[in-house]
Amino acid sequence: MYAKDLLAGRTVLVTGGGTGLGRSMALRMAELGARIFLCGRREEPLRETCDAIAKAGGAAAWASCDVREPAAVEKMLDAAEAQFGRPDTLVNNAAGNFIARTETLSPNAFNAVVSIVLYGTFHCTQALARRWIAAKQPGTVLNILTTYAETGSGFVVPSACAKAGVLAMTRSLAVEWSKYRIRLNAIAPGPFPTEGAWSRLMPSKDYEERAKQHHPMKRFGRHDELANLAVYLVSPQSEYVNGECVTIDGALWLRGAGEFNELLDLPDAVWQQMESARKK
Ligand code: COA
Repeated sequence: MYAKDLLAGRTVLVTGGGTGLGRSMALRMAELGARIFLCGRREEPLRETCDAIAKAGGAAAWASCDVREPAAVEKMLDAAEAQFGRPDTLVNNAAGNFIARTETLSPNAFNAVVSIVLYGTFHCTQALARRWIAAKQPGTVLNILTTYAETGSGFVVPSACAKAGVLAMTRSLAVEWSKYRIRLNAIAPGPFPTEGAWSRLMPSKDYEERAKQHHPMKRFGRHDELANLAVYLVSPQSEYVNGECVTIDGALWLRGAGEFNELLDLPDAVWQQMESARKK
């Protein structure tokens, strides 16, 4: 799909890059020539992902970092710079989420998710952008959102609030920082199976099957589909795409939005009955 050296000479920082979609994006970007710097809270997956990238012939390094802490973010950026030079691309992928009835949430539960998603994204974006601006160096930011950043969703209210904030941040800074040649875009994924998300967001195997059957395409997303979109959005080919949020969900959110879309479940026999009644 892409030239093998599309991202040669680039250095990409992926937050939460040891697992899930962060890992898949990191592997794909490394395959296309980017040097990858990963950060996350747990060392083991970071180390494992770096090893996988090295095994495939790529270059990667990592530092543990809790993006909720501005000082830890600065330290992590110093480590990244020492390793590969300043990253030119930031993928804000680190997230926290769980399903819960909102009336049961403690203040700290709301805070835990918003601090990772909204504050963490802000800390990383602002800290790296300050370095880009001081060095008069261009930069690219890709924020990983969710389709309910636009629509909202019950049972994941802290995440919905935080992701909506990151969407606003993406659009705001795309305008404010254009003059510095800093470009920001976002991806709104629908359901992509990952250990982290599935263990927190899928109540049961039965619910998972029902979710698949409810999907217009009757399947969840594949990691390579999302990783290739991420590559496009950080590549020079998308330079004029700025402040945009690209949905990749196989039309799932639209299914919920269209008034008559539930008719997808109407059996052919019922359609035929209605059609022959109309012809009479
Ligand atoms: N329902 C309701 N409240 C919950 C919860 C759940 N499923 N899971 C955690 N909480 C509450 C805790 O009770 C705590 O509140 P309290 O101090 O008032 O009791 C608060 O959230 C913080 O939990 P804690 O586990 O101490 O926070 P943490 O910083 O270690 O973890 C989370 C943050 C909760 C977001 C955790 O799920 C996480 O680390 N997630 C990262 C990975 C992830 O979510 N991936 C999926 C992305 S789609």
